[in-house]
Amino acid sequence: MIEEIYSFENNHYFHAYWEERENRFKQSLVFPKSTYSPWLQDEAFLKTYDAIKENSLVDIYRCYELWSISKRLKESEAAIIEVGVWRGGTAALLAKANGNQSPIYLCDTFEGVAKAGEKDNQYKGGEHADTSVETVESLMKEQGITSYQILKGIFPDTNAEKLDAEKFKICHIDVDVYESAKDIFNWVWKRITVGGVVIFDDYGFAACAGITQLVNELADNTPNAFFIHNINGHGLLIKTAL
Ligand SMILES: C[S@@+](CC[C@H](N)C(=O)[O-])C[C@H]1O[C@@H](n2cnc3c(N)ncnc32)[C@H](O)[C@@H]1O
Repeated sequence: MIEEIYSFENNHYFHAYWEERENRFKQSLVFPKSTYSPWLQDEAFLKTYDAIKENSLVDIYRCYELWSISKRLKESEAAIIEVGVWRGGTAALLAKANGNQSPIYLCDTFEGVAKAGEKDNQYKGGEHADTSVETVESLMKEQGITSYQILKGIFPDTNAEKLDAEKFKICHIDVDVYESAKDIFNWVWKRITVGGVVIFDDYGFAACAGITQLVNELADNTPNAFFIHNINGHGLLIKTAL
């Protein structure tokens, strides 16, 4: 059985055991045929990745995409926002790649995942509470990042008014569950600049069916949004017009 699943002949469609546990969306192990791996020769990225990897749950493929996007949007004047910071790993990558140029807002409950519900298959609420504001501050200090501000609480419900007038070029949503991600997107989308991007983490993850459902809904129903499904586990919505 295993041999068959992972046989060379079956290399177009690797059925995975996840199919049993998640029926709403087909799951398989995904191995792109392309082998070009620029993250392995980007010295600045590798140095930062090495310094933040213990503070992140995000793999190198998604980390490199965050790094590249932030670097490419360096000259744009708008701010960056991350909701779902945990111990600060991806936040530090976004800030470093942006060269401390733009303000970056780091939003987390610091009490774990909020608003898990029936659309979510694995998360029950309260996961990833093993962090603190001090942990994030300490990583930022280590990395020489000064342009950040931490917002503690459920975003956007408890603290978004402070950012009402901001415009954002990047919003990284890494909150694992449907309702939280939906509320954040609805708050942020009108504040995203043309050419700016909302990056959803966990898109397509077997444990995050709520995120896959939400991103598919948004991809179909958001005007002036260009959707990219990156098979590394990111869903990107790029704003094409106001
Ligand atoms: C998977 S972790 C984030 C991982 C992090 N980006 C990294 O580099 O590993 C998810 C985080 O989302 C936070 N969270 C979930 N829903 C939230 C919400 N509505 N507002 C603020 N934080 C939220 C949780 O507290 C948790 O720390």
